[in-house]
Amino acid sequence: MLFFANAHAQTVQVLHWWTSTSEEKAIAVLSGRLAQENIVWKNAVIPSGSGIGAGIVLKSRLLAGDAPEIAQLNGVMISEWAELGLLQELDGVASNAKWEKLLYPTVWHLIQPNGHPVAVPLGIHRINTLFFNRKIFARFNVAAPANWDEFELVAQKLQRAGITPLAQSSESWQLATLFETILLSESDANFYRDAFVNKNSQAFLDARFGRALSRFRSLKKYMPSPLNERSWIASARMLADGDAAMLVMGDWAKAELNSWGLATDVGFSCAAVPNTANYHLYDIDTLVMLNKGAAARMAQEKIAQIAVSPVMQAEYNQIKGSIPVLRNPDLSKLDSCAQASWKIFSRGTAAQVPSLAHRMATDEISKEAIVAELIRFFSNDNVAVSDAQRRLAAISHTLPK
Ligand code: BGC
Repeated sequence: MLFFANAHAQTVQVLHWWTSTSEEKAIAVLSGRLAQENIVWKNAVIPSGSGIGAGIVLKSRLLAGDAPEIAQLNGVMISEWAELGLLQELDGVASNAKWEKLLYPTVWHLIQPNGHPVAVPLGIHRINTLFFNRKIFARFNVAAPANWDEFELVAQKLQRAGITPLAQSSESWQLATLFETILLSESDANFYRDAFVNKNSQAFLDARFGRALSRFRSLKKYMPSPLNERSWIASARMLADGDAAMLVMGDWAKAELNSWGLATDVGFSCAAVPNTANYHLYDIDTLVMLNKGAAARMAQEKIAQIAVSPVMQAEYNQIKGSIPVLRNPDLSKLDSCAQASWKIFSRGTAAQVPSLAHRMATDEISKEAIVAELIRFFSNDNVAVSDAQRRLAAISHTLPK
């Protein structure tokens, strides 16, 4: 019997960058369900935080004719890969399951860049999340700061008492994640888009961009010293252990804290990054299916169908820290952080802002060029704000539009 089942099992290799406890648990929910369909999910993990390494490995495996069946591929890259004809079209699954009606329009547009659905959406993360340690906040009688003035008061009070206010790391994607939330806080969704989606050189020269840069570097004094390139998991650990009071990070950190036994609103809570409560700076996780023949195709379509089903969406996202990609999800599974995320995202495109660091705003080359400049500015106090602005504006002329 067992031999019979195995003989018909279809193995799919999935290339991704999920390595933390909560990320692995979320995958296990999906792979466990797939096992019931005789589909074996084989992890090909490329640890790399926000997935920079995973993208490189995926490209080289493709060039070597050794593509996996499935890959985690987010944002603008979906359309680039679809244009090259590398992705399976999932029209059948999408129309049978009525994805167009079921999914948020933003998600639906993202996954069908050329009129055919070519990616399977898993969940929506909110990037502009400020986590705080509740014990520390209670001890110092402070509340989540709603704006930067309040933030300064809280941070100074904590620092005077010898507590590190912010558990940030100097890893470039983590700093970029922080910067984009600051840019949004110092401007608005239109301005943010003008800079990071349109790459309009005027936006980089604007006073609002300058203010964001100044604030970015000024937060360094509230971060651990020396500032190391610790992983986001280690940053979350600092917050959990009370070694730092706050952390700006996508809400996958919430999932990780939960997985360590810290319940939301008990050990920690989340708020919006100061001045960004009306926005949802988003990062949507998606899987793409690569062309690997008919047998693989059947399994890939089954996976697509199961991943987007309302039951799987509720279960998976509860563990992953994201919210379902569905317009009308099962709200009973959302904690207070997810409720807030869902409410703002549901307001529609005016409130939704695409993450630069997590590939929603622009192509990989533009993102890397902009992030490199941001890091250069952050790391070297001698680089003037205006100098960084001029360099970014100059670079923006050379980037793909
Ligand atoms: C992904 C998340 C992941 C996080 C940290 C983000 O780019 O979208 O799913 O948890 O990186 O690895």
